[in-house]
Amino acid sequence: MTRIITVANQKGGVGKTTSTVNIAAAIAQTGKDVLVVDLDPQGNASTALGAEHREGTPSIYEVLTGERTLIEVLQPCPEIDHLWTAPATIDLAGAEIELVAQVAREYRLQRAITAALAERHFDYVILDCPPSLGLLTLNGLVAAREVLLPIQCEYYALEGLSQLLRTIDMVRTHLNPELSVGAILLTMYDGRTRLASQVATEVRTHFGEQVLDTVIPRSVRVSEAPSYSQSVLTYEPTSPGALAYLEAATQLMSLGEEPDIGEAAGYTSDGAGAGATNHSNPHSYPQT
Ligand SMILES: Nc1ncnc2c1ncn2[C@@H]1O[C@H](COP(=O)(O)OP(=O)(O)O)[C@@H](O)[C@H]1O
Ligand SMILES: [Mg+2]
Repeated sequence: MTRIITVANQKGGVGKTTSTVNIAAAIAQTGKDVLVVDLDPQGNASTALGAEHREGTPSIYEVLTGERTLIEVLQPCPEIDHLWTAPATIDLAGAEIELVAQVAREYRLQRAITAALAERHFDYVILDCPPSLGLLTLNGLVAAREVLLPIQCEYYALEGLSQLLRTIDMVRTHLNPELSVGAILLTMYDGRTRLASQVATEVRTHFGEQVLDTVIPRSVRVSEAPSYSQSVLTYEPTSPGALAYLEAATQLMSLGEEPDIGEAAGYTSDGAGAGATNHSNPHSYPQT
């Protein structure tokens, strides 16, 4: 069965795109077929995966407006086999507003993915959400079964998290009962600062098992890779960032292998719900 994972956090710059691209690349390198859907008008995931995304390129925008099927807009990643991208162009910036007037506006992506999977197999579909809780992210949450939530190991990291968890709860209640917080990934960890380890500890205290063991270190190679249209795995495969993303991808893949993952209390509505409740005061962490 295809795992559909949406990488969401309405904060910008927390590592959504970087995590999407590198985890997708790592999974594809194991021979699994992976589709990355770029839901951010900025098209950063498309850039990093070497997908054409100039204005007017067939993209996820036309998929959401119903002009094209998802299969029609796919581009193979030039650097990595088994990896495809549904690119985002700047046209997508208008979708947030244009979709409001359309029928089944929250279900557009879900329907497009279901139709695509009926035609062609992918082991993983990974959705890179924009930094907002608007209709594009909502489409991502409705289309997925799991949320991968990147949290940057910085001050303010937890701000807005309870709002995101409430949104996930709301989507589960009203639009997509299958949705759960599959995993939390700590990103841009700077081992030299006490703050980073404080944030990491705080997140693990709140979310326990849901947090992946692997922490992604802050690494220059990770941030350089996109300017060469590459993931860090191809750009500098032995760098600490590449190794960490490989490990995170392995962990994420193994979560799917556990039997009854869908029902296991730790990973589904109960887990996320508890997180949401426990987390009603995200501002408390600087005091700890
Ligand atoms: N582990 C890391 N080390 C160094 N820079 C990183 C790392 N992860 C992300 N970055 C950089 O931080 C910025 C924001 O990351 P990005 O993945 O685009 O966040 P988001 O998609 O959440 O907005 C980018 O410039 C990216 O290259
Ligand atoms: Mg992004």
